[in-house]
Amino acid sequence: MSMDLSTDYLGFHLPHPFMPGSSPLVDDLDMVRRLEDAGAAAIVLHSLFEEQIVGEELAMYDAVKTPAESYPEALSYLPDPAEFALGTHEYLEQISRIKAAVSVPVIASLNGTTPTSWMEYARLMEQAGADALEINVYDLATDPLETGEDVERRALDVVSSVREAVRIPLAVKLSPFYSSLSNLARRLEKAGANGLVLFNRFYQPDIDIEELEVVPKLYLSSPNELLLRLRWLAILSSQFPGSLAVTGGVHTGLDVIKATMAGAHATQLVSALLRHGPDHLRTVRREVEAWMAEHEWESLGDMRGNMSLGRLPDPAAYERANFRLALR
Ligand SMILES: Cc1cc2nc3c(=O)[nH]c(=O)nc-3n(C[C@H](O)[C@H](O)[C@H](O)COP(=O)(O)O)c2cc1C
Repeated sequence: MSMDLSTDYLGFHLPHPFMPGSSPLVDDLDMVRRLEDAGAAAIVLHSLFEEQIVGEELAMYDAVKTPAESYPEALSYLPDPAEFALGTHEYLEQISRIKAAVSVPVIASLNGTTPTSWMEYARLMEQAGADALEINVYDLATDPLETGEDVERRALDVVSSVREAVRIPLAVKLSPFYSSLSNLARRLEKAGANGLVLFNRFYQPDIDIEELEVVPKLYLSSPNELLLRLRWLAILSSQFPGSLAVTGGVHTGLDVIKATMAGAHATQLVSALLRHGPDHLRTVRREVEAWMAEHEWESLGDMRGNMSLGRLPDPAAYERANFRLALR
């Protein structure tokens, strides 16, 4: 039986939905080629962070201000533009290198929260050959004077500005911590987002109670984390007209099946690839095919969204009813 795993994500027709999510894995060109060999349908790059860009601009500013005030000839202290833009320059180079090395779509990633100058890098990424952009709005709201609306407004402004700067498709990678995700999704789409990537994982520092130190921790995900994503995919898949990708807790082919039933067009893996290596993408594909064969599904498209909550008149009431059932 020939099986159709194809999917449309951000306007790309892909042979299947499996791809690496944003991580340092793809900093290495050899690894990128191995991921493509293992069947990655697209390559999502590691993020370029707002702080990297703004940090460089600050360094430039200091270099201009300090010595140039003392002596005009100190202009020679100015870093060479190529040197000043080192991190960002390397990132753009990496986009071009990856573009040259693979034939699948290359999705560059920008990570930032404030709508300022760093967003101009979106245009440079497009020029460097990125086929699409993922914007990671990694924003922990900690200011007691800032409202939820302020936080959302910032995310929307980032998306509108990037939308103005580039023509390529835009995906927005969100955290689950918004008070009205359905409403935010709708406004993001109006601001120009073509897709959502659900969800960002905030890294959660631990406390060393002997040393009285904050210990930065980045654990690989567990499959339990998929459940939160499944719920929101199931809710948003009937509300959001664009593409939906899942990131977080996808480890096996069965996880891919679940995410697809909830409405995902693309399934991103990071922890599972870090744990098992790039060939794991091939394993996941085999698992999906085996399950589909066993259950006589011919197309992943037929399955997509069949467990969405879209046909329910009131998903919130359904959630509450299930919660009460589960407690019993
Ligand atoms: C080591 C590491 C680095 C990551 N770097 C980024 C990053 O630069 N940008 C980003 O959007 N997500 C980043 N992530 C998050 C992943 O893309 C992904 O969303 C998260 O790990 C959940 O997916 P998983 O369960 O498949 O690991 C990183 C994750 C890990 C483990």
